[in-house]
Amino acid sequence: MAGIIEKLDKTAHYLKEKAGFTPEIAVILGSGLGKLADYIEEGIVIPYEEIPHFPRTTVIGHEGKLIFGKVRNRSVVAMKGRFHYYEGNDMDAVVFPVRVFKRMGIENLLITNAAGGINTGFKPGDLMLITDHISLFCENPLRGENIDELGPRFPDMTVVYDRELRKIALASAKKLGIDLKEGIYSYSKGPSFESPAEIKALRAMGADAVGMSTVPEAIVARHMGMRVLGISCITNMAAGVLDQPLSHEEVIETGKQVEHKFSGLVSDIIKNWN
Ligand code: HPA
Repeated sequence: MAGIIEKLDKTAHYLKEKAGFTPEIAVILGSGLGKLADYIEEGIVIPYEEIPHFPRTTVIGHEGKLIFGKVRNRSVVAMKGRFHYYEGNDMDAVVFPVRVFKRMGIENLLITNAAGGINTGFKPGDLMLITDHISLFCENPLRGENIDELGPRFPDMTVVYDRELRKIALASAKKLGIDLKEGIYSYSKGPSFESPAEIKALRAMGADAVGMSTVPEAIVARHMGMRVLGISCITNMAAGVLDQPLSHEEVIETGKQVEHKFSGLVSDIIKNWN
């Protein structure tokens, strides 16, 4: 396991040198939600190709770069483009950036994503604060020999999405007049969308939204003791909720429509993060 720690530290060192500082908060921007990057001041942009050991992105609507800078006077690094399991990446690659962030000394992680709405009280364009997750059918990113330098073999997942940070998010939403929903995010491997029967089953299990990201990153972040907050943009109703097919175009289109609201909320949360 020494190999992985060396790789992480080499990448962390490279990024610290390039950026010239260690950000307080790392932000992962989901599909179609990259606009927040425009709010970053004094940005230093580093394409993934230039970063040692970083994986590559392949999805349309996902660019691949890190942006270091400030949002509302708080120092951040934003990932514009993330690595998904469905692209063929190993879990190690999916979670590599989050591990690098922690090795840089970053203790806070804000994860965003596009998700399908399972809860029939939701509608496309809603934002949902993630209160917990379900990932029973997916590979766990910690599978394999434990990396003791990063965290324990059997990490507790009782509270993955930090309670204090959730309160801050709800207060920001209230202040901005945003009806921030709350719910459970269910992780699917993708890349096919779920079937209506799967969505019914997930609903019976208590899921409110479904997506193809976030949970691996959240699990490794908690393994390393980082504080995590997650927000979903409900870009479509999940399969079978409405009598219409799903498409990636719809996901991107709704993401674009709410980018402004979403970026406003995220930047206010960052401002009040403590
Ligand atoms: N299912 C899975 N992932 C998604 C969806 C969905 O309906 N919408 C956006 N990402």
